[in-house]
Amino acid sequence: MTERTLATQEPDDRGAGQEPPQRKNGLYHEVSEELAANMSQGWADTERPDLRPIPQAGHTARRRTELSARFPGERLVVPAGTLKTRANDMVYRFRPSSDYVYLTGDQSENGVLVLEPREEGGHEATVFLLPRSDRADGEFWLSDRGELWDGRRNSLGENRRLLGLACGDVRALAGTLEEGTGPVRLLRGHDAGVEEALRDKVTAERDEEFRVFLSEMRRVKDDFEIADLRFACEATARGFEDVVRSLGRARATSERYIEGTFFLRARVEGNDVGYNTIAAAGPHATTIHWMRNDGAVRDGDLLLLDAGVETRNLYTADITRTLPVSGRFSPLQRRIYDAVLEAQEAGIAAVGPGAAYRDFHDAAQRALAVRLVEWGLLGDLTVEKVLELGLQRRWTMHGTGHMLGLDVHDCAAARTEAYVDGPLEPGMCLTVEPGLYFQPDDLTVPEEYRGIGVRIEDDILVTEDGNENLSAALPRRADEIEAWMARLRA
Ligand code: GLY
Ligand code: MN
Ligand code: MN
Repeated sequence: MTERTLATQEPDDRGAGQEPPQRKNGLYHEVSEELAANMSQGWADTERPDLRPIPQAGHTARRRTELSARFPGERLVVPAGTLKTRANDMVYRFRPSSDYVYLTGDQSENGVLVLEPREEGGHEATVFLLPRSDRADGEFWLSDRGELWDGRRNSLGENRRLLGLACGDVRALAGTLEEGTGPVRLLRGHDAGVEEALRDKVTAERDEEFRVFLSEMRRVKDDFEIADLRFACEATARGFEDVVRSLGRARATSERYIEGTFFLRARVEGNDVGYNTIAAAGPHATTIHWMRNDGAVRDGDLLLLDAGVETRNLYTADITRTLPVSGRFSPLQRRIYDAVLEAQEAGIAAVGPGAAYRDFHDAAQRALAVRLVEWGLLGDLTVEKVLELGLQRRWTMHGTGHMLGLDVHDCAAARTEAYVDGPLEPGMCLTVEPGLYFQPDDLTVPEEYRGIGVRIEDDILVTEDGNENLSAALPRRADEIEAWMARLRA
């Protein structure tokens, strides 16, 4: 019996131009020729010739046309990204780069979209992907990430039908990129193999211009994206209902239980959570990025839950509700809650086509400053003086919102003049999320305020004549919250 030993490579270095690394699991280092021959045959042809295009294929084509028009005569390269090692041969769940998803609708690791300029103008689009594992040479079962271990991939033909795009073998891409001449722009930060292949052909300045343009393209959502964001909000609302129903049990355990309850909904209805869930009970609600979620949940406390389902198309909701764990707000909790709600209403009212992006933030901050002054927390200062000096920010802390889409903080590379200094347009989707946070150790506020944090966050679509609250299914008024909780827990 002949033994053959397989060479080993790092498990995660597979991308454009890389040979598939070999599985490091010692069990399979030595394989007899007989077994290799046995495994190479006897497999059915499972090609699916009748696949229909994904629903967003027309939209991704239009987006590529817009990108093509902006960068004529240049090769444009947008990688999905590669698997990230957790330890040894274990990897994190893959999440492709948002711009790649936006332009292709594909979610495969190692994918690379290339727009090749045509002489007659425009570009030829090709997605480079890992093809199906080769059975004849054993790659499908002997290599790390072989299909026998990780699951069947689509063939290049199947992907062509699904995506409405030409598809090529990504393992040959690096060589092609290295040989190419002419100007190139690359979306950096996702695929080290592609970056190495293009090292001498790109400049940081031009690539940044490319990244910024992509980010700005994504500001106005099309019908497909709006439908998906709507679904993300609906699924997130169901996740919040799950949490309220489980609060009896969560109280006995922890914020972790709440995080897990929401996560179940996110995984069942969507792809994942769109960001780390903030399940912050009691004083933890005053920590804006509370993600440890390891605290107790007690009657009498408020629970600030900031969570979003990411859909299977990778659009995310971003919703916050602040709920009384007992089901009833105390008078002080309600007073603070009502002030935040009032600010949110003022913010939402300022969202509409043609309004300045900054208007909703300013409106919400003003409303909060009015209450802070009224409560005597700012001495004799007028609201105008407080706003001029920004003193309310000790307790309002963060900006009142951000754009939302494939990323929770969407379009973050857009230029200031195209985002925070720009106007709102129909199709933009943003959060409006004012809050008040009184730190447990803040000696400038009465003792009873300390440790209370309230945020209310909704996802607002700018429409032709105003706005639509995509997360309106979740109650916001304090009495509605109490009635809703009572109903769900009955
Ligand atoms: N949860 C992140 C945010 O609200 O921006
Ligand atoms: Mn949020
Ligand atoms: Mn947010």
